[in-house]
Amino acid sequence: MNFKIALIRGDGIGPEVVEQAVSVINAVGQRFGHSFSYQEVLLGGCAIDATGTSYPDGTAEVCKSCDAVLLGAVGGPKWGMNSNPEKRPETALFAIRKDLSLYANLRPATLRPAMIDACPLKRETVQRGIDLMMVRELTGGIYFGARDRYQTEDRGEVASDLLTYSELEIERIGRRAFELARLRRNKVTSVDKANVLESSRLWRCVMHRLKEEYPDVAYEDILVDNAAMQLVRDPGQFDVVVTENMFGDILSDEASMITGSIGLLPSASIGDTAPGLYEPIHGSAPDIAGQDKANPIATILSVAMMFRYSFQLPEQANAIEAAVDAVLNEGWRTADIATGGVAPVGTKEMGRLIRERLLAQ
Ligand code: IPM
Ligand code: MG
Repeated sequence: MNFKIALIRGDGIGPEVVEQAVSVINAVGQRFGHSFSYQEVLLGGCAIDATGTSYPDGTAEVCKSCDAVLLGAVGGPKWGMNSNPEKRPETALFAIRKDLSLYANLRPATLRPAMIDACPLKRETVQRGIDLMMVRELTGGIYFGARDRYQTEDRGEVASDLLTYSELEIERIGRRAFELARLRRNKVTSVDKANVLESSRLWRCVMHRLKEEYPDVAYEDILVDNAAMQLVRDPGQFDVVVTENMFGDILSDEASMITGSIGLLPSASIGDTAPGLYEPIHGSAPDIAGQDKANPIATILSVAMMFRYSFQLPEQANAIEAAVDAVLNEGWRTADIATGGVAPVGTKEMGRLIRERLLAQ
C-alpha cells in the first residue's frame, strides 16, 4: 500500500522530532512492504515568518488530500501573544482542527514498565499501573466561542470567552469514548463541572442518554476538580476519560506528568472521515530546539497511532510500540527521562535505536 502523509514540521523542536518519526515510518515501510509519500505543509510560527500568516492558504487543502497529517509542534516566544490572530501560531492549530473536523483528541497516558522510576507518584499509588485514554473534545467549547474585550466606565477593561456545546457535539465525542472503552477495559469516566456550568449539565444529560446504549460499559460522572485529584491519588481507576476541550487540555498535561515525562505521550486527533492528525502532546520547547536534546518518542508513538487509526494497520502500530519499549527496557534515555546518573542519548540516536529494534524484530 502507498500512503500519503502531510508533514507539518512546525517550530522549535518540531522539525527534529518529525525527522525521527519520518524515518521510523520509512523503516515500517521497509519491514512490512508499504510505501509513503510526503507533502510538506507550513503552519504555525514558521509559516508567519515565511508568509505573514500562521495558517497559509492551501494548508487545509493539502492536508485533506492526504491519508494522515503528522505535526511536530507549533508556537514559541518569538511570536508571543500577538493580538492579531493571524500572527499567533496557536490560531492555526485551532483552524486546522476545525477545518479537518478533528473533534476527537485521543491522548493515551500509559506508564510503560521501564519508566516506573520516572513516575513522580509513590510506588504503592501506581501498583495497579496507569493505562488510561483521555478523550478530549477538540472543536468546541471555550476554545471556539465568541471572545470580547471592551472598556467600561466604572470597572476598567472587561474580557469574556463564551463556552458553548451542542447536543450533537457532545453525543459524537461521547460515542467515541464508549466505542473505545469496548476495545479496552469497558469503563468510561465523564468529566464535567455540572454543579456550576450549564454546558456541563447538558454534557451530563447527553452522556446519560448514551450510556443506556452501552449497558456493557461501566460509566461514572466525576467533577473536574475531583478528577484532577483522583488522577494523582489513584490513576489506576481510570480507563477511558471523556471530557470537554479545556478540561481535557488541562487534565491531559497532568496525566502525562504521572507517566514520567510529557516527552513520551502521543496523540491522535480524528473525526468521522480521513485524514487524522497525529502529534506529540508536548509543545515546541524552544529552549532546547536545535540541540539534539528533544525526546522523539512522543512523536514516534504518535506515528504508531497513525498506523492504528488512519491506516488500520494495528500490527505495524504494535511493532513501533514494541520497538520503543525494547529501547527503554535496555535503559536508553533522552535527557528528559534520564534518572540515576544515566548518560542521555540525543534525539537522533534515540530515533536510530528505535529504527534498529523495529527492523530487528
Ligand atoms: C494542546 C496545546 C494547545 C491547546 C495549545 C498550544 C493552544 O496545549 O494541544 O494541548 O491548548 O489545545
Ligand atoms: Mg495542552
